[in-house]
Amino acid sequence: MADHSYDYDVLIIGAGPSGYVAAIRAAQLGLKVACAEGRATLGGTCLNVGCIPSKAMLHASEFYDAAANGTMASMGVDVTPKLNLGKMHEQRIDAVDGLTKGIEFLFKKNKVDWKKGYATFQDAHTVKVGDETVTAKDIVIATGSSVTPLPGVEVDNDKQVVVDSTGALELAKVPKKMVVIGGGVIGLELGSVWRRLGAEVTCVEFLDQILPGMDGDIRKEANKIFKKQGIEFKLSTKVTGVSVKGKKATLTLEPAAGGDEEKLEADCVLVSIGRKPNTDSLGLENIGLETNQRGQIETDHSFRTSIEGVWAIGDVIPGPMLAHKAEDEGIAVAENIAGETGIVNHDVIPSVVYTWPEIAGVGLTTEQAIEKACGDKAKVKVGKFPMMANSRAKTNHEPDGFVKVIADAETDRVLGVWSIASVAGTMIAEAGIAMEFGATSEDIAYTCHAHPTHAEAMKEAAMAVQGKPIHI
Ligand code: FAD
Ligand code: NAI
Repeated sequence: MADHSYDYDVLIIGAGPSGYVAAIRAAQLGLKVACAEGRATLGGTCLNVGCIPSKAMLHASEFYDAAANGTMASMGVDVTPKLNLGKMHEQRIDAVDGLTKGIEFLFKKNKVDWKKGYATFQDAHTVKVGDETVTAKDIVIATGSSVTPLPGVEVDNDKQVVVDSTGALELAKVPKKMVVIGGGVIGLELGSVWRRLGAEVTCVEFLDQILPGMDGDIRKEANKIFKKQGIEFKLSTKVTGVSVKGKKATLTLEPAAGGDEEKLEADCVLVSIGRKPNTDSLGLENIGLETNQRGQIETDHSFRTSIEGVWAIGDVIPGPMLAHKAEDEGIAVAENIAGETGIVNHDVIPSVVYTWPEIAGVGLTTEQAIEKACGDKAKVKVGKFPMMANSRAKTNHEPDGFVKVIADAETDRVLGVWSIASVAGTMIAEAGIAMEFGATSEDIAYTCHAHPTHAEAMKEAAMAVQGKPIHI
């Protein structure tokens, strides 16, 4: 029931995957909803400059690579590919246009009012969006995140020499030599795109291995695969500066632990060292809401902040910066505001790197599982199955990678699943469901999986937890 002392029951600030989903679910639950968004199109980082355009470029460049690197020829399809980069960008822009307009349609369908402009808090129930003042009983901060700058390195996406992820999606020409700063998800996905299209790619990573936060075996194997594909890695190395002269950049590198400087030339430098929450210019000081040391807004498990009536979700709060986590929080916060019980199980959030092959995981890594068992390795059982022994992957010429199931040695409950496989991102959903239902590795092992599918590798890895896989 609408509270008539406010313009709206709920105002969401930000129309990314957390905000637009929260707005739609709140409207579905009968609330009067507005969503403020400053960007010209809805969908946030994800639809405009993140998940969707990057996948459009990854997918298209995979086709080019398959034709160029002999994979297609090895299957009896002889082609000499010719790159039409303009067309590749067009299909990226089409994908973004279609999906962002789709959210606009969903807003209209669900009677969510889009307030165009950036919102600033006046008090806990009032924001200013442009010249308009909007009041709401509940306000949800869903302002997302933006690129973390690297001190001493100036990004200029227009010049296309030193770029961030947004610039790297739109390069008008394939760089001859590209340096990626940061061996995380963005560096590897976008580095892969331009490597496939012909760039020589070097990845500079501060830590001693790429993909921090992922399972140790996965990180090592991924590094091996990317090296085989031609990406050069400089691990345990930091970039201390980048100077630009015309269309060329010179990077200054140093060992992470300190030591002699090294110079590296590039036609394009991608800065991808992480993202930071968007809280500046929100006027948080007007409502007395403070951020933590990482600039994030802390909430309780219902997504309530410390200020009555103010909630927060998505990249702006702690946790992985992922669109599906953001969407689930959007649904949960709307349900909580409507008086229902909205819950997100933060222990079961899958993560996927959309390279070739894909890299995916959910739950604990082996290292985390052992740490939780107070270092007692005997309390953790691991089953591993190589994609090389999976009939479908082998037949499809996709032998790289493996599936790894991590289980509690005593209860057999699945603690985590990690995988590198051509379709690991799709396969990981099964592991997520199994974990949500508290499955044991035996439950997965005795579940009939269709043959021939890559997913059989999941079943075999689960069988391997008991030491009884069939095909190795
Ligand atoms: P955002 O999507 O950042 O949306 C926040 C919105 O709020 C923005 O549109 C912003 O304009 C608006 N806003 C900010 N301040 C205000 C204000 N004061 N008033 C009004 N509006 C405001 N995640 C995945 O899960 N899978 C992927 O494949 C993936 N790929 C990615 C690729 C790239 C290159 C990048 C950069 C990110 C990728 N991500 C991916 C991460 C994903 O995009 C984010 O986790 C997700 O978008 C977070 O959603 P959000 O709603 O919290 O914030
Ligand atoms: P990231 O956190 O994944 O990786 C950043 C990397 O940069 C880390 O490996 C870090 O050690 C390294 N680094 C930090 N400072 C450095 C320095 N000075 N020199 C060299 N290396 C340095 O961040 P990234 O790739 O920018 O992505 C940001 C976020 O976007 C991620 O949190 C991710 O969740 C999200 N994202 C998700 C995708 C997906 O789900 N497929 C795709 C792209 C982004």
